Amino acid sequence: MASTLVTCIGLLSTQAEMGEVHDAALVIDGDRIAWVGRSGSAPPTDGRVDVQGRAVLPGFVDSHAHLVFAGDRAGEFAARMSGSAYSAGGIRSTVAATRSASDEALRANVSRLVHELIRSGSTTFEIKSGYGLTTQDEERSLRIAAEFTPETTYLGAHVVPPEYADNAAGYVDLVTGEMLEACAPHARWVDVFCDRGAFDADQARAILSAGIGAGLAPRVHANQLQHGPGVQVAVEVGAASADHCTHLDDRDVAALADSSTVATLLPGAEFSTRSPYPDARRLIDAGVTVALATDCNPGSSYTTSMPFCIAVAVREMRMTPAEAIRAATRGGAAALRREDIGRIEVGGRADLVVLDAPDPVHLAYRPGVDLIHQVWRSGALARKADHREP
Ligand code: NIG
Ligand code: FE
Repeated sequence: MASTLVTCIGLLSTQAEMGEVHDAALVIDGDRIAWVGRSGSAPPTDGRVDVQGRAVLPGFVDSHAHLVFAGDRAGEFAARMSGSAYSAGGIRSTVAATRSASDEALRANVSRLVHELIRSGSTTFEIKSGYGLTTQDEERSLRIAAEFTPETTYLGAHVVPPEYADNAAGYVDLVTGEMLEACAPHARWVDVFCDRGAFDADQARAILSAGIGAGLAPRVHANQLQHGPGVQVAVEVGAASADHCTHLDDRDVAALADSSTVATLLPGAEFSTRSPYPDARRLIDAGVTVALATDCNPGSSYTTSMPFCIAVAVREMRMTPAEAIRAATRGGAAALRREDIGRIEVGGRADLVVLDAPDPVHLAYRPGVDLIHQVWRSGALARKADHREP
């Protein structure tokens, strides 16, 4: 397999043991990083790419996205911006649109969003089901998701669908029974929305333990809309991640700090629902591992841009630029329990973002500007450079 030298990297942010390397180079061999060091001392390779002093960092790891859906909810967003509140119930309108869409339409929508994700520097992304909410529609959502990523999440427990409005217990039986059996072969993870208007602690425990019994690993939508039991349930079941973490008390922060559960923060959701942001500073100071992700979905956060999330996290969540960049790379990898991504080191996957900027700090410093020059994904150029000067 051909090897490529990426050289004249002004600043390489490895997010690994080497830290930051100035005037750096690296070698890509197949889909892996084969060497990292200073520009002058690189070994011979088949090809060579000169990035002319640009900054390079690991590809972003978007560990939380809901991409299998039809339609949008722009009207709901506009209404919110003129004062209406966000509620979990809005999910049901996307469920209706998703159920009546063809497989081809759903696949085309996922493909469009995946294209956006990769263009904005995400080289790994998780995809959840959760807008089908019948056995057949959840199974096909995960089957389609698995065409795009190995990080697929069964979220049959997103909300109780209308046909079970008076029988939530019956819906939990479905989610833990027949629906789980159909979905488990296509999923790596099981998730539950444990919050106001969705599922309570006992229901969440039942759903997560059934998922674990079927070989899936747990993660939880926790404490987004109000303070509740989500984070405690996540820690209790050993979830890889508790996601949202907007409304936490001291016990929640302590429980996260004492566990291996990552707190995944989703600033796009607070931005798009005009809600108070989670306090990343409090979590980081307590020793919690923090990840940033887009939460891309048509209701609460219709963005695929990790750079946008980094900028908002720095401005609104008391994160330093370095912390936000780490959370968007290595933090996301931790939330997916992956060690081959989210860092640049020998043996790891060759997933890189080359920035049209001298330092990754520019991701927060230049909000809303497309600074992505190139994206390398598994050693292949996934976004080519536009014709811009460095
Ligand atoms: O993560 N919180 C639950 N699910 C999504 C919202 C989904 C929707 O509104 O369609 C979220 O924000
Ligand atoms: Fe979500």
